[in-house]
Amino acid sequence: MCTLKAILHDATMLLKAVKSMPELEQTKAKYLGKSGSLTAQLKSLGTMGAEEKKVAGAAINQIKAQVETLISEAKSRIASAELEATLDTESIDVTQPGRSAGVGGLHPVTRALEQIEALFATMGFAVADGPEIETDYYCFTALNTPPNHPARSMQDTFYIADSEHVLRPHTSPVQIRYMEEHKPPFRIICPGRVYRCDHDATHSPMFHQIEGLWIDEAISLADLKGTLTQFLRAFFERDDMQIRFRPSFFPFVEPGVEVDMEWENKGGKIKWLEIGGAGVVHPQVLRNGNIDPEKYSGFAFGIGLDRLAMLKYGVTDLRLFFENDIKFLSQFR
Ligand code: DAH
Repeated sequence: MCTLKAILHDATMLLKAVKSMPELEQTKAKYLGKSGSLTAQLKSLGTMGAEEKKVAGAAINQIKAQVETLISEAKSRIASAELEATLDTESIDVTQPGRSAGVGGLHPVTRALEQIEALFATMGFAVADGPEIETDYYCFTALNTPPNHPARSMQDTFYIADSEHVLRPHTSPVQIRYMEEHKPPFRIICPGRVYRCDHDATHSPMFHQIEGLWIDEAISLADLKGTLTQFLRAFFERDDMQIRFRPSFFPFVEPGVEVDMEWENKGGKIKWLEIGGAGVVHPQVLRNGNIDPEKYSGFAFGIGLDRLAMLKYGVTDLRLFFENDIKFLSQFR
């Protein structure tokens, strides 16, 4: 009996002190496991006589019951301590300020483009599109620039290994693609990405152009000037802005011009900025697009979208548009 008391005493001390489930399991095994001390006691009953067994059995079972109660108490104590610890570490502090979803905005080039599309829409221009990986034929040959024509060297093109395709160096190929698919009269603009081997403060290997094309009967250089003047005045919100044409050469127009817009006018001294090329569509280009040059004529222009966006928003380095610097971009939200 003395042994049993000692076991109970010992078990009570240990079980009141256990702090984790594995520790509890170990302690439980010490008494009730295969070679536990209470198990040994129960085994010893086999060697006793009937009377002795009855008394000893009752005593052992009573102690065993007490140990089992201690075990289940320890178990619930540990479980609630563990729960509390989890709640402590995983609790939500409802007084913390919330994380707000950042408000995005349109890229300045996209913003300028949307305005430009809207302005041209008021003048009846639809928006057309074409591939960025374009064939040599649409980029050059169909635009009256056959292989080996020196005008090809005006554009430092990225050729693709098969040498038949290029990353389009301008949006002009869309002119031919559109003419092939549509009967005049029509007027379109085709904005999009273009590519050239250039990289400095005012040139990026990828940049944006907007092509324009208006084909109808008796369209002339005067229509070109009127259209561009109206567009540029509206875009820059300057009713008196002057536009100037300088003679130039592009194989796909005749005559061809360089388009300048008045940027500053200090006492009659005008600072001009070049914004693109334009001209009256060359008859051969119309023929290449299955349009009869005896019946129809038209004008085309190609202007730099990034340039217009830089001027409008006062950005001096083109590269800022393509570096994805949030500090820069968020100013346009
Ligand atoms: N495609 C020319 C370039 O990127 C620009 C251009 C000039 C487009 C005259 C035209 C045009 O449509 O008529 O250099």
